[in-house]
Amino acid sequence: MKVLYILCLLFAVTQAASLNKRDRGAAISIVSSNEFCMYLPPAPGLSVSVTENDAVAFCQTPTTYAKVFPVGFIRSAHYVRTPSYVQVTGRMNSSTYDIQVEDGGGQYDHKNLPKGTCNGMNYWINVLEPDNDIYCIRCCQLKGDCNIGISTYGCEHIIPGNYN
Ligand SMILES: *[C@@H]1O[C@H](CO)[C@@H](O)[C@H](O)[C@H]1NC(C)=O
Repeated sequence: MKVLYILCLLFAVTQAASLNKRDRGAAISIVSSNEFCMYLPPAPGLSVSVTENDAVAFCQTPTTYAKVFPVGFIRSAHYVRTPSYVQVTGRMNSSTYDIQVEDGGGQYDHKNLPKGTCNGMNYWINVLEPDNDIYCIRCCQLKGDCNIGISTYGCEHIIPGNYN
């Protein structure tokens, strides 16, 4: 079993390495609950916490800079826009991309993926909790609206919103 696990991990890592580096930390956009992007590990079978500096953008519709979410990955999406930030919160099915539950999840943000921007804004935070199957992303004009220092608190604390 252990050997199989290591082989799978090696495969995932090689797959990840073969992806074009330019895809990492792309400039994503959030337009509506049916048209948004966020970051996922570069290959299935990885956790968010081990790929915090190495994520790939996924969107609901094909773009030149991102992949399309696996079928069934997004189970619900709730879009909120204010003058200073935009966010999407909701439920996912992490099994469709085999996201590992290590550390109960993890966080991608403007600090660990500095090439990423969101709607042209420089501050953003994107948390995935595969153990609860919820996700959240918020993109901010003001640093204070995107608090990247409290990742262990989870989506519902960092980005209050609708998680039904
Ligand atoms: C989640 O995805 C897995 C794998 O595709 C599937 O077997 C399962 O039924 C899905 N669960 C829900 C709640 O949709």
